[in-house]
Amino acid sequence: MSKRNICISAPGKIILAGEHAVVYGYPAIAAAIEKRTYVTLSCGENYANFVKLLIEILPQTPIAQIKDKIQKISQNTITAEFCSELPIGCGIGSSASFAAALSAALFLLQHSTLNTEKVNELAYSFEKTQHGNPSGVDNAVAVFGGFLRFQKISEQQKKFSFLKTKIHFPSMFLLNTGKPIETTKEMVGLVQKRFQHSKQNIERIFNEIAQVVAQVERILLTQHQLDQFALLLQSNEMLLEELGVVGDRAQSMIRNIEKIGGIAKICGAGGVTKGSGVALVMHKDPEKLVEFTKKHNIKLEAIELGSEGVRLEKMRAD
Ligand code: MEV
Repeated sequence: MSKRNICISAPGKIILAGEHAVVYGYPAIAAAIEKRTYVTLSCGENYANFVKLLIEILPQTPIAQIKDKIQKISQNTITAEFCSELPIGCGIGSSASFAAALSAALFLLQHSTLNTEKVNELAYSFEKTQHGNPSGVDNAVAVFGGFLRFQKISEQQKKFSFLKTKIHFPSMFLLNTGKPIETTKEMVGLVQKRFQHSKQNIERIFNEIAQVVAQVERILLTQHQLDQFALLLQSNEMLLEELGVVGDRAQSMIRNIEKIGGIAKICGAGGVTKGSGVALVMHKDPEKLVEFTKKHNIKLEAIELGSEGVRLEKMRAD
């Protein structure tokens, strides 16, 4: 088998509505963002002998060890390079975009063509090693891209549909409330504890989140009522605060944005001790936001939603 060099990228994500509840079988809506992780695999002669083994072993390997493991298993026939535009562990799907890009690269080496359903299954197995009990929404949006309505019916059955929205969103921004100390796994565990202790109350919160999700979906599909859309994201933020996954620091930043007429919502697992990760921010008058964040020395980044999923960036065979 000749040498091969491939580079695949996959996007990060934000969850518009439904995080945490989605772990319990409720629906969520997520969107891919144009901030990507790039995985390059450089393969020498006879690389194909090792790909099957890599696909078997790598999903059980913690991310930090994957690069070395690839070289070790392939006896230095395959080397890997990773780079990402996503901040790590901040709730915008850095691990899922890595899992999606690596899964697609391995799959392509094995089959010479991409089957996104299978790539998604493989990416999910990477995510399970990282996060314990993930819903699978992050890897699904990293693989398929766009806007996705996702629901985990059971471990084996995940239902997702593309929301073909033509909505033209007003300016949207990302604001980092600080890297959470807690991992996604720990945050999911914290919610699980609350669920066990006060099931009724947490189920009520999840049901309210599900209502928000249903309305967000309707707006995305009908392209109306953008004001309403912002209010829905704000309601979801309040429900996440009630769930206990947004720390004081993020809450105070979000209240300040509300004071100047904007809305903000965290978009991943959150965090309580310090930061709560990246928040999505909207304002009818983006200038006000820019002014506010400049004054308080807060970094604000404009973002487009609905990016492409896994993408072959480069492939070379000698
Ligand atoms: C993480 O991006 C979203 C959570 O809902 C966990 C998951 O869905 O696996 C908190």
